[in-house]
Amino acid sequence: MNTNIVVAIDGYSSCGKSTLAKALSKKLHFIYVDSGAMYRAVALYFLRNSVNMDSHEEIAQALKNIHLSFHSRDYQTHITLNGEEVSEEIRQMPVSEKVSTVAALHEVRVEMVKQQQRMGKSSNIVMDGRDIGTAVFPHAQVKIFMTADPKIRAERRFKELAPKNPDLTLEEVFESLAHRDYQDTTRAESPLVRADDAIILDNTELTPDEQLQFVLDKVLPFVEQAK
Ligand code: CDP
Repeated sequence: MNTNIVVAIDGYSSCGKSTLAKALSKKLHFIYVDSGAMYRAVALYFLRNSVNMDSHEEIAQALKNIHLSFHSRDYQTHITLNGEEVSEEIRQMPVSEKVSTVAALHEVRVEMVKQQQRMGKSSNIVMDGRDIGTAVFPHAQVKIFMTADPKIRAERRFKELAPKNPDLTLEEVFESLAHRDYQDTTRAESPLVRADDAIILDNTELTPDEQLQFVLDKVLPFVEQAK
C-alpha cells in the first residue's frame, strides 16, 4: 500500500500558497512542488515560440519539446525549461498575462497532471496549485483551500514585482490577479474550486508563522501515524 503523505494546497492567485508550502516542506522534510511554476514555464515556451493555441498539432509538438525539472539551491526551488533556469522570468508580467489561457488547454493539463502525479507517487509531498486536491491528488490526506482579501493579495504581489518593474502600478497588478482568478475559476477543465474535504484557510490576518502552525496541526497526526 502507498503510505506516503500528500498535502494539497489550492487557492487564488497570490494568496501565499507557495510561502506556506515551502515552509511546511522545509519543516517536515517533504518534497515541495510548485505546480504553478510548471504552467508558467509552459506559457513562457508558448510565448517565446509563438505557439498557435488553436492548433492541436502545434500544442502537441510544443509539449513534446518541453522538458521541465526542479532543483533546490540556497533553500529555494528553481525550475528549468529545457535546461535553462527560468525561475525569475516566469514571475514577470508577460508570463502572468498568458499563463491562465495556456493552463486552460486540455493537452497542457493532461501532460502536467501526469508529471505531477508521478512526483507524488513515492515521496511525502507538498504541492500547491489550483486543482491539486480535486484532480491531481483527490486522495490527499490534507487539503487546504487558501484565500485572502483581494486588495491584500495585490499589495503583496506588487511589493514582489515593483523593485524590478518601476512602471508597474498597484491597479495593474490588482486587475491582472482578478482576471486570472476569473479565468481559473470559470474554465471548463479542472477549474479552481474547493474540494468538498478541503479546509479553508483565510490568511488575510495571519502571519506566515500562524498559517504554518495551522496547517502543521492538520498534517502532524498523519506523520505520527506513518512512524
Ligand atoms: O503565484 P500565483 O498564485 O499567482 O500563480 P501560480 O501558482 O504561479 O499559477 C499560475 C497560473 O497557472 C494560475 O493562475 C493558473 O492559471 C495555472 N495553474 C493551474 O491551472 N493549475 C495549477 N495546479 C497551478 C497553476
